Amino acid sequence: MEGTEQAEKKEKKKVILSGIQPTGVFTLGNYIGAVKNWGKMQDEYDCAYFIADLHSLTIRQDPAALRKQSLDAFALLLACGIDPEKSLVFIQSHVPAHSELSWVLSCYTQFGELSRMTQFKDKSARHADNVNAGLFTYPALMAADILLYQADMVPVGHDQKQHLEFTRDVATRFNNLYGSTFKIPEAYIPKAGARVMSLQEPTKKMSKSDENPNAFITILDEPNVIINKFKRAVTDSEKEVCFREGKDGINNLMTIYSVITGRTLEQIEQEFEGKGYGDFKLAVGEAVSEELREVRENFKRLSADKAYLEQVYQAGAQKAAAISARTLAKVKKKVGLLVK
Ligand code: TYM
Repeated sequence: MEGTEQAEKKEKKKVILSGIQPTGVFTLGNYIGAVKNWGKMQDEYDCAYFIADLHSLTIRQDPAALRKQSLDAFALLLACGIDPEKSLVFIQSHVPAHSELSWVLSCYTQFGELSRMTQFKDKSARHADNVNAGLFTYPALMAADILLYQADMVPVGHDQKQHLEFTRDVATRFNNLYGSTFKIPEAYIPKAGARVMSLQEPTKKMSKSDENPNAFITILDEPNVIINKFKRAVTDSEKEVCFREGKDGINNLMTIYSVITGRTLEQIEQEFEGKGYGDFKLAVGEAVSEELREVRENFKRLSADKAYLEQVYQAGAQKAAAISARTLAKVKKKVGLLVK
């Protein structure tokens, strides 16, 4: 008996969890830094992925647009290869435990540590007329998202690293106070592509909120749009395709090309030896466009099938509620809430 239990324990897959905001079509940065990896992890791990719609409320949204974007984002997740037969997929606001645990965790979070969050500083500078409390306590909600599912690993791009560190801190603090309650999660940040840069200002992160549409590629851009955006990408006045400090534009394009084609930076340097930036940019544009072809086709099919999407997110909400309720019940008991 003991032997079987041990074997079962050993076989238990690690839990992976991650989320994405529905504030527009995913960018190539979201895809390379996060979603592409999520798909690859589905066979080996027990995965949960969700649309972080509650997080989007920290910036003022148009209600009808947000509703549509949330459904589109859900379809995009599936279009990128997240398979509801293999992974748990859901919409954050459909699972009330996220908001409930977020409140409890915010009572174990210090003002000082939230004030140090770079995303809070950036976003409150960009939206100075709406520095709301949700923007400030955003990391407590993100910690709740992760800790409810007892995640082992959280695959994210580099910009989420600080939030992951906060999650580990608050979980450790809680465990120290009340005994083991939360699994302490690890950030899983890809070696290449964790910080895809803007095509127009390659020292800045690629972001869907950029005012210049040439600065980012969305994963639904048509092939000619993708190729033109790469043609216009800002590089430098040299001619050589090589990865070197100071060549931010070329380094970014080489990283993108490397992640998409699987070629190493050295192989790429050899491939374009003696050729100009024009040839290189075209090759990157074509490779990206080809990589995203299936996503575009899948999205067209899926977004037309609202009944299917609804069925998947309803089932996801039910399953997510069951898993998250277990952790939430433990937490409520530990902090002294009267259990009904
Ligand atoms: P969001 O929606 O801004 O981005 C989703 C994922 O895409 C990654 N990413 C990038 N990676 C590389 N290069 C870029 N230019 C780039 N831009 C974005 C992000 O790092 C992220 O992994 N707070 C999160 C959503 C969230 C979450 C969670 C994530 C809410 N709860 C719990 C993990 C676990 C966010 O706003 O991601």
